[in-house]
Amino acid sequence: MRFALGLKHSTLRHVRPVRSVRKWHNSPQVPLRLFAFLLAVIASSSGSAQDTPDYYRQNCMNCHTVGGGRLTGPDLKDVGKRREAEWLINFLQNPKTVVDSGDGYAVKMVEESRGVVMPIAPGMTRYRAEQILKMLEAESALEKSQFEGVKISSKPFTDQDRQAGHELFVGARALKNGGAACISCHGMHDISALGGGRLGPDLTRVYERLKGRKALSAWLMAPATETMQPIFKNHPLEADEIHVLAAYFESGAANSEAEPSVSRIAFLLIGLAISAAVIFGFDLIWKGRLHSVRRALVEASSQRSKQ
Ligand code: HEC
Ligand code: HEC
Repeated sequence: MRFALGLKHSTLRHVRPVRSVRKWHNSPQVPLRLFAFLLAVIASSSGSAQDTPDYYRQNCMNCHTVGGGRLTGPDLKDVGKRREAEWLINFLQNPKTVVDSGDGYAVKMVEESRGVVMPIAPGMTRYRAEQILKMLEAESALEKSQFEGVKISSKPFTDQDRQAGHELFVGARALKNGGAACISCHGMHDISALGGGRLGPDLTRVYERLKGRKALSAWLMAPATETMQPIFKNHPLEADEIHVLAAYFESGAANSEAEPSVSRIAFLLIGLAISAAVIFGFDLIWKGRLHSVRRALVEASSQRSKQ
């Protein structure tokens, strides 16, 4: 459920420009849009076939395999044999429009994808779509496509795996390809309240959020979000690293059943304790002062009365 909501959010982000296209000719920004459009055309037509795999890796791979089975979206092996090129090109440019039009094939796909509607990939053009379909056709003909995806093992997780995942997460063991330790940006259930970084979300429940082992592993193979992508594009996680991280994240989901925000509560309690200590401390100092002032006054007056 949460996953679906999260996706909807990103879907909306991608869909919004489409809505505005409908009235683009009324818009005062026409020259600007035309300019942007021309730029996009130039950019896409100058993009060599070489960058199509890169583009695919960044924008498609965490939801689709070629010959590796379904992830969030269907396996794209031989997709060109299932649908006509024109239909696919149109779908890639406007998935939601096609689904909303009631197209039977698309509606059925959405049902099989548990309601997730494919987002429009950034910079998707007709040219891009054609290039990708060509590439998918070639990849489908191979014995083993480069987009089959890391074979996600179905070995049961062991305590050793969970421990190794923890070590990778906190940086006790370095990532093989030099990626930054997760703890610099993420918290986890068993990381002390003030330990984990705050730039990224707490990952205690990420196993559940990303829908289990297969989808989470696929996500980690090619993180496609704003901050994660640039970090891990050139320092990808290895298959065995993904395996042990998944084991660790699974244990997080199990351990936090009742209280996902333990660390936040701990944070609050520590905060309260500190402020209590500060108030108490000031109180002591203040009382001390009052007493000494008072004592001085009392002594002074009693001396006066003695005189
Ligand atoms: C967030 C996950 C997600 C991403 C990212 C994504 N897709 Fe999809 N894709 C889906 C889902 C889900 C479907 C099934 C239709 C639906 O539910 O909208 C689908 C359907 C398709 C289909 C039709 C498959 C068939 O069996 O007919 C093609 C082709 C496709 N996607 C290609 C791509 C390409 C190319 C990219 C990258 C530019 C991409 N997708 C990115 C989730 C995704
Ligand atoms: C430099 C900071 C940084 C580092 C290092 C980092 N992340 Fe992230 N991560 C983020 C941010 C920020 C997000 C939120 C999405 C985005 O902007 O990319 C995120 C999102 C995620 C998500 C998706 C969470 C969700 O709820 O959808 C996962 C999973 C994840 N990171 C795993 C990891 C793992 C595993 C590591 C270590 C191998 C790691 N991250 C290292 C910053 C980081």
